[in-house]
Amino acid sequence: MIRVESLNDLWQARESLDEPVAIVPTMGFLHEGHLSLVRAAKKRATSVVVSIFVNPTQFNQETDLEVYPRDVERDLALLENEGVDLVWIPTNEVMYPPGFQTWVEVGEIANPLEGEKRPGHFKGVATVVSKLFTAVQPQIAFFGQKDAQQVAVIKQMTRDLNFPIEIVAVPIARENDGLAMSSRNVNLNPEERDASVVLYQALQAAKIAYDGGERNGDALRLLMKEIISAQPLASIDYMSCADPSNLQELEVIASEALISLAIYIGKTRLIDNLILEK
Ligand code: PAF
Repeated sequence: MIRVESLNDLWQARESLDEPVAIVPTMGFLHEGHLSLVRAAKKRATSVVVSIFVNPTQFNQETDLEVYPRDVERDLALLENEGVDLVWIPTNEVMYPPGFQTWVEVGEIANPLEGEKRPGHFKGVATVVSKLFTAVQPQIAFFGQKDAQQVAVIKQMTRDLNFPIEIVAVPIARENDGLAMSSRNVNLNPEERDASVVLYQALQAAKIAYDGGERNGDALRLLMKEIISAQPLASIDYMSCADPSNLQELEVIASEALISLAIYIGKTRLIDNLILEK
């Protein structure tokens, strides 16, 4: 496995890779969810590049960036074990050289949900992902479905900027009790960890109601609200039942819906979602 930091070293290493090349962009502190992206990438591509970069511009709160967990040596051992070909760990100066002033901003699809609650977040994501794409020149890129809106934003950006890259969304990896895997889960104390299963429980309750014929968006949002509100450690940031194609809230589900949640468990903000299929 080759490990590089500078752009020149990346470009040189990239030349030695057999095509097709896949990229798995990450912010490190890897868990099974990331490894499932790497495994999916290995199935589809001849060479796999993983980037590790805690992107400061997508954190709208300084404290969130400060507590974001990091362990590069452990990450490298995990990636080596998965048979990754190249790991790029750019520095802040590589991604944001002094005087940096060029941004990628995606339109309407980036506005609701995470975009509304975390102003500037998707501007940071779209900018860094487009820089990763430009530098690595992959044919395929893998992202986790846990960040459903991120996937939608990146697909939109890829179409709009004509990047010749296929975007693949990989299903959410979950702990045994249903909690979606996330680097942020380590910030939960044992009591909060127990409480955090409430996100999955709320989504499952909505799915059961939907499978039983409920098609009213408000009824599903209310059902999830009741379940979350019954958990004293949880507070709601948003709850949504939206059209997956544009993320606009639905009054009535005519075909599919994306139900998604952002919930604080103590000080830790967790997100989760599922698709209600036709
Ligand atoms: O999903 C993430 O970890 C990040 O948003 C990404 C895509 C690596 C961009 O920094």
